[in-house]
Amino acid sequence: MTHLLLTNIHQLINVRKHPELLRGEALKELPVLNNAWLQIINGRIADYGTMDICPDATDILNLNGASVLPCWCDSHTHTVFAASREDEFVDKLKGLSYAEIAAKGGGILNSAQKLALTTEDILFEQARKRIHELMALGTGAIEIKSGYGLSLDAELKMLRVIKRLKEQLPIPVKATFLGAHTYPALFKEDHEAYIDLIINDMLSAIDAEQLADYIDVFCEEGFFSVAETIRICEAGKQYGLKAKIHANQLHLSGGVQAGIELNALSVDHLETMDTSAIESLAASDTIGTLLPTAAYFLRMPFQPARSLIDAGAAIALASDFNPGSSPSGNMNTVVSMSCIQMKMLPEEAINAATLNGAFAMGVEKEAGSITIGKRANLIITRPIPSIAYIPYAFGTNLIDKVLINGQQIADSR
Ligand code: NIG
Ligand code: FE
Repeated sequence: MTHLLLTNIHQLINVRKHPELLRGEALKELPVLNNAWLQIINGRIADYGTMDICPDATDILNLNGASVLPCWCDSHTHTVFAASREDEFVDKLKGLSYAEIAAKGGGILNSAQKLALTTEDILFEQARKRIHELMALGTGAIEIKSGYGLSLDAELKMLRVIKRLKEQLPIPVKATFLGAHTYPALFKEDHEAYIDLIINDMLSAIDAEQLADYIDVFCEEGFFSVAETIRICEAGKQYGLKAKIHANQLHLSGGVQAGIELNALSVDHLETMDTSAIESLAASDTIGTLLPTAAYFLRMPFQPARSLIDAGAAIALASDFNPGSSPSGNMNTVVSMSCIQMKMLPEEAINAATLNGAFAMGVEKEAGSITIGKRANLIITRPIPSIAYIPYAFGTNLIDKVLINGQQIADSR
């Protein structure tokens, strides 16, 4: 049995005996223990308390007034990709439109073309390295989507990479099948045939190797309609895959209502919302996952976090890490941006990026709060005066150490 006692913690943040999904007013409450200790046994949180009654221990890490919070739970990423797309970024700066970039072979199809030419081993190594960098930035659980394959073989290749990441990384990893990300060139004129391929061939092959936990569809004008989204996700349900869908990013696509009808675990993006979408989401069990860095990078309006929270919706925050719309997986930036641009309170943003993020990827029993029995995936801050300092000091790395399963990780860049 390995033991480690953390002592002299200024604030132990997000301490919960019975962690539940947070919505509305509950999202504002971030329970904290001041002047605390935390005991880790075999990589799990074993106990905690205040320094006035501190247990004896041989292995002690004296934090000298630093604070501790659960690692970020990033519930929406596309971390497996073959190449960055900064050329497109520069083309956009020069004024090229989305259609012009697509005509030059850009966008999701550009990533699909590069992925088709890259081996499973190389994809694995690239993604492993990216996730190690994210762990050093405090990410302690991650969801990863396919969707740059767009053929049976390439979707399987991506999902096998995610399976290997799941097996080899020390943090919880969840896999989402996003075959319905866009129509591949081969099926440009025959959308039905591609949907058939997803439903009749891809899903059974994925099921045979147990490669996915969730199913996703890009429900958007010019991509997949509400009816197509529902058909694809219903087919996924037959294989036990719950939906987590891309909804209301560029247009009022009806994706939010489709997600609710499907009893989706989450509807993600939500840049383009109206009162009806906000109210329906608030009245449902589906989590709304906001991706502010994607809005920032594409110069879209930020998600209406305040209206959603005030209406009583359950909100999570995630990075959407991908080479096209959010080439950063830094959850510290996500948390800061949510406060600065969407007026989330620091407590709301931290809850949304930890506990609610854990719920939005089904790892709430393992991560997302300081709870006895959960993994000791912890961010140890540099000394900070208050919780509000975390989003306030944007761009400053406030992380001193990250523990994953109770072990300090090396920054492997
Ligand atoms: O979540 N919106 C759809 N998919 C990604 C972007 C994909 C890309 O441009 O490569 C997103 O933003
Ligand atoms: Fe996405």
